[in-house]
Amino acid sequence: MPVSNSAFAAKAASDNVFKVVEEVKSIKVLAGTTTLLELPHLWLRDSCTCNECRVSKTQEKAFILSEVPADICPIDVSLVGQVLSVEWPDRHQTQFCLEDVLGLSLPRTEGSLVWSEMFQPSYFDWSSFLTDDTTARSLFKTFLDYGVVVISGAPQDPDALELLAPRLGPIREVLFERIHNVCVDTHVYNVAHTPMALPPHNDFASYTFPPSVQALHMLHNEAQGGKSIIVDAWAIAESIRAERPDYFAILCQFSVPFREFDVTTETYTEAPIIHLDVDGCITNVRFSNQLMQTIDPRRSDVDKFYDAYHYLCCRITDEANRVTFRLEGGHVLLVAAHRVLHAREAFVASGIRHLQDAYYELDNIANNFYLLNTTEANDV
Ligand SMILES: [Fe+2]
Ligand SMILES: [Zn+2]
Repeated sequence: MPVSNSAFAAKAASDNVFKVVEEVKSIKVLAGTTTLLELPHLWLRDSCTCNECRVSKTQEKAFILSEVPADICPIDVSLVGQVLSVEWPDRHQTQFCLEDVLGLSLPRTEGSLVWSEMFQPSYFDWSSFLTDDTTARSLFKTFLDYGVVVISGAPQDPDALELLAPRLGPIREVLFERIHNVCVDTHVYNVAHTPMALPPHNDFASYTFPPSVQALHMLHNEAQGGKSIIVDAWAIAESIRAERPDYFAILCQFSVPFREFDVTTETYTEAPIIHLDVDGCITNVRFSNQLMQTIDPRRSDVDKFYDAYHYLCCRITDEANRVTFRLEGGHVLLVAAHRVLHAREAFVASGIRHLQDAYYELDNIANNFYLLNTTEANDV
């Protein structure tokens, strides 16, 4: 392909490559038969996958953009089939398969699914989950879709949650205990250590990044009452976005103080109730009535926040939004804690009720699911 000196002349459309003038800082190229891609020069240079620009053993990037000027411009561009070749002023060569570039828009994971009206969590057997990849894949898929599963047949031994690490990834430790004991005769730093009802909440809202997965392992449950409750906070937040976008907006913007503490421990953060990613998708609903602290009433928009917060509280405590079931000894409730809130009805401590909590991270579960799927694909 001929190269002009500094400003490229437009090439014939039949070449599928249109070189544009330098000031535009990008090239346009037809990928496939219908998709016109605009590729910034800096993107092209930064994305080079050659062995000089990557650590070949790990495929990590080695090239860093500060090695070239901000106004870097190709001296030659050509397209053969779907392979785009770019030559740079220092004669460095970069090649792209345009099908790979189009593939970058595919989501790496599937989105979550909405709970049906009669939704109940699915149950999976503890031993099968640990030993059988098909069961593990099925559990992970269900968990990533709905944000909740129950594992039955767990050992009724203290700290058995440690045994889930090969599947769920390492325990995410937070302050207080590595494996938290929830019973009425333990160290009381939280309303959970009383027989009182607990409104829906996620744990450790007082952390800047609260644990994203929580396992609640019922060792023994001989108490009257105390049924477990789960609430899909993302579904509630989506309904508020549809019905009251003004409420939704302030719940995304107004930071709320949360604190969990005892005499030797202090955890505190300020964050909005609803957190969105850059595309506006909900990534976290942080809700804990018990850990929320008094808001400075002189802050602007406190009144607006409280209107929205009242609306949210009514939704979260609405029985119609609850899924209720009883955790028996040997059951582990696993929740995607940035989405699914957990709660408990009050109970009468007429018999032993001993629950243990541990936390994990959703990234590690998604990773293990990905690896299991990759292994399966390679086995076929
Ligand atoms: Fe909790
Ligand atoms: Zn390169």
